[in-house]
Amino acid sequence: MQKSVVILAAVSIAGAALAEGALTLPEEGSISRADGKAAFERIYEVVTHPRCANCHVGEDNIPMWSGPSYGEARPHGMHINAGESRIGAEFLPCQTCHVTSDDFDTAPHAAPRFGIAWQLAPVEFEWFGKSRAEICAQLKDPERNGGRDWRGLVEHLEHDASLNGPVAWGWSPGGDRDPAPRTLEEHVEDMALWGAAGQPCPTD
Ligand code: HEC
Ligand code: HEC
Repeated sequence: MQKSVVILAAVSIAGAALAEGALTLPEEGSISRADGKAAFERIYEVVTHPRCANCHVGEDNIPMWSGPSYGEARPHGMHINAGESRIGAEFLPCQTCHVTSDDFDTAPHAAPRFGIAWQLAPVEFEWFGKSRAEICAQLKDPERNGGRDWRGLVEHLEHDASLNGPVAWGWSPGGDRDPAPRTLEEHVEDMALWGAAGQPCPTD
């Protein structure tokens, strides 16, 4: 069972956005390692879900496609490559098709969209096909997560959601796509629980 030590106030813009700072963070050390590991297990289910992992891909810079009609994820059609810019600047910019819009809902198979510029996550934030231990090590390494401690990760999730970015979209993707598991609010809470428990990893 998840402890309800975190108070969340959900504020809706496009249905899923969170208010920044809406979360009262638990004290560091107030969460047991067992509860922290259980929270990490739920985090792992979210970040390896196609709504998240399809953009958090490796150095080939190729986004992945998946959905009810695709089965397993496969490389993005039309030979799309995001280049080292991760936004397609070298080839065809992602935003040619993935326009910026606060209205997430698209017809099935239309290019999905959200409130900020569509692009791949930086290559160091690679999750696609990675194990629990690998993702856990990456998420807690400031050299590979954008310089964030656990509070910074929580802030990133809240901030991105408040901009109707990928984090908000992942739970309301439209176009008949499966949303990421559970809710955005629970994911933010899990990040806080894992952090306050000392970011324990499955191999610890
Ligand atoms: C359309 C592409 C895209 C999708 C889909 C996407 N992200 Fe990201 N993600 C990004 C980009 C770009 C960044 C870099 C932003 C930054 O660091 O400020 C990022 C960074 C992050 C970070 C920062 C730290 C780190 O180690 O990665 C987290 C946490 C994160 N995303 C969570 C998620 C979650 C959870 C989902 C699914 C609900 C998701 N992302 C889906 C593009 C995406
Ligand atoms: C020529 C148009 C076009 C361009 C350019 C394009 N995409 Fe797409 N993209 C699409 C379409 C259409 C879909 C939806 C396919 C479907 O659902 O059948 C899609 C889907 C995706 C998905 C899958 C989302 C999910 O959750 O399954 C990701 C990730 C993605 N694109 C990333 C990118 C990135 C990153 C770029 C830039 C490097 C990019 N795309 C450039 C048309 C495009």
